[in-house]
Amino acid sequence: MKNILVTIDGPAASGKGKIANYLSKKWKLKHLDSGVLYRKLALGIIDEKINFNLDKELKIFIKNYKFNSFKSQKKLRTEKVSKIASKIAVHKFVRNHVNLFQKNFVGRFIKNHGFVIDGRDIGSVVFKNADLKLYIDVSLVNRAKRRYKQLIDTNEKSIYAQILKEIKLRDKKDKSRKISPLVVPNGAIVIDNNGKFTQTIKIINTLISKL
Ligand code: C5P
Repeated sequence: MKNILVTIDGPAASGKGKIANYLSKKWKLKHLDSGVLYRKLALGIIDEKINFNLDKELKIFIKNYKFNSFKSQKKLRTEKVSKIASKIAVHKFVRNHVNLFQKNFVGRFIKNHGFVIDGRDIGSVVFKNADLKLYIDVSLVNRAKRRYKQLIDTNEKSIYAQILKEIKLRDKKDKSRKISPLVVPNGAIVIDNNGKFTQTIKIINTLISKL
């Protein structure tokens, strides 16, 4: 086990989660998927019928929301949750709430544990001083193809053209928002994940072994 902090940023469906999962097992790091936190807020908004277009209503909901876990669940992966998550992620007060949770959580364990954290702004905003910052790059078409296959494999109905459109839309939202847009963080290493997973992790494992 290494007491290191590794950040992984990248666009939707770039394989960040799969890479982070693998690295957490291989290097015995705690895995924090920041997307799950935005998704949990989105699910809470749906369950509690919050009108997220009303700033005042959304602010009260966020202020009172306590993250009790950040486990990924199937119900967090629906398109409806994805859409609301990326809509609310544009607000500073939403991002501050998520970032505070992440910082407290990591702060509590970092003395005895290493971390791998994935998201959109982890190396650029939340943990700028991480030991290793990665940015995962995959073409839009490859991301849409992989997401489509994932959904088909889990017996979910899906239409390729629709998936492509939705990923494009999320890219636009993530990259063009004023606060913490998706960028290649300063000092990050760009990893091409268009090829085989084994090739990608070989490169990353080499980088980690040098830390
Ligand atoms: O990574 P995932 O697709 O699960 O994230 C869901 C949504 O949450 C993203 O589309 C993005 O808008 C938002 N997000 C973010 N910053 C992060 C992680 C996720 O804005 N660090």
